[in-house]
Amino acid sequence: MSTRLRTFKDLALKEGSTVFLRLDLNVPMQDSVISDDFRITASLPTLKYLLEKKCKIIACSHLGRPNGKGFEAEFSLAPVGQKISEYLGCEVLLCPDFLNLGVDKIVSELNSPEQMILLENLRFFSGEKNGTDEFCQKLSSLCEFYVNDAFGTSHRPDASMYGVPLLFPLEKRCAGFLVEKEVRFLEEAFLKPKPPVTAIFGGSKVSDKIQVLERFCNIAQHIIVGGAMAYTFLKVLGKDIGISKYEADKLDLAQKILEYASRRNVKLYFPEDHICAASFEESAESVLCPTADIPKNLMGMDIGPLTLDVYQNIINSSQTILWNGPMGVFEWDSFSLGTKGIAQTLATRSQKAGAIVVVGGGDSAAAMEKYHLKDKVTHVSTGGGASLEFLEGKELPGIKVLKTYY
Ligand code: 3PG
Repeated sequence: MSTRLRTFKDLALKEGSTVFLRLDLNVPMQDSVISDDFRITASLPTLKYLLEKKCKIIACSHLGRPNGKGFEAEFSLAPVGQKISEYLGCEVLLCPDFLNLGVDKIVSELNSPEQMILLENLRFFSGEKNGTDEFCQKLSSLCEFYVNDAFGTSHRPDASMYGVPLLFPLEKRCAGFLVEKEVRFLEEAFLKPKPPVTAIFGGSKVSDKIQVLERFCNIAQHIIVGGAMAYTFLKVLGKDIGISKYEADKLDLAQKILEYASRRNVKLYFPEDHICAASFEESAESVLCPTADIPKNLMGMDIGPLTLDVYQNIINSSQTILWNGPMGVFEWDSFSLGTKGIAQTLATRSQKAGAIVVVGGGDSAAAMEKYHLKDKVTHVSTGGGASLEFLEGKELPGIKVLKTYY
């Protein structure tokens, strides 16, 4: 059976149409101040489009993980609403409790095309996670059309992502521009990729990346590994890893991946030198360890310059590249060389050689942001867990309900 993602082209929107718009406005906050508004800016094209069409927008999102037992100030979407208002120059009316406010009243409050409604954090309500019929009915009754532009939440079968759209007829639901773009880049780049294909994986846990590693053994010619997950592999390969973090209960799994990759003739690359420290602290002195083996009193915190050089050469000979997960503790300057070097090389490769470069995963996206390189690669996904599950080849519930099957 074939499928097709439903988009705005499939929706018969008219002036005054009421649109339920699920966004992922789950942005990092520090003391109620937004520290990275990538997900907000990524939502703007759809918001602008609907405002231009003079639709009545009822937007909603979650923020953080409140426990579903009512309002908690630290998880309020108020600062997010304020930010959207600044970007769009429209009034964002924050609706604190749509469950107890009459639906008619909510919609009637929208009396100008320069206004939109933002429902308060959906996770203040237990129904969002439980997906109760009553909750889904209440949300779906707010509007005539359903649009999902929350790519980052599409792996969650939450009410607003799954139960609510199912209550709309298929011809009245679709993906927004962000979901459309994410699906296109994450899917097309790796369905018929231009070889050589390289996948770069980092981050802390092998267990988080096991399925995506296996899948890319069937797609990529080169797989580069960095970050803490590399130490689990190096341990299996008989290297001394000192006091580096590794997953003692995942050694068998790492061994299986090594065997799987070798059966598929995929070359796996691991660090050949490291930047180490005696303790996991920002202030810890950085020590270059020039071999793959790490002295017993040190832990690996980043890949070393020799490894970076090898990895950069592979990137510079690749045409399609996926990056998921940092090479080290890049948040701390002394241990950022590897991640920064990979980010810069990817940007140059994309800009100068036209290679397809897709960055998926919250930490790698944060690194691209930190080094001001987001606009210099083909695509940076707004999804963390969602992009990983998508790349593993899973059907995400929030996307599944937006498809036409034929
Ligand atoms: C994310 O940040 O990955 C999404 O917004 C989903 O959030 P969650 O992991 O709390 O469901």
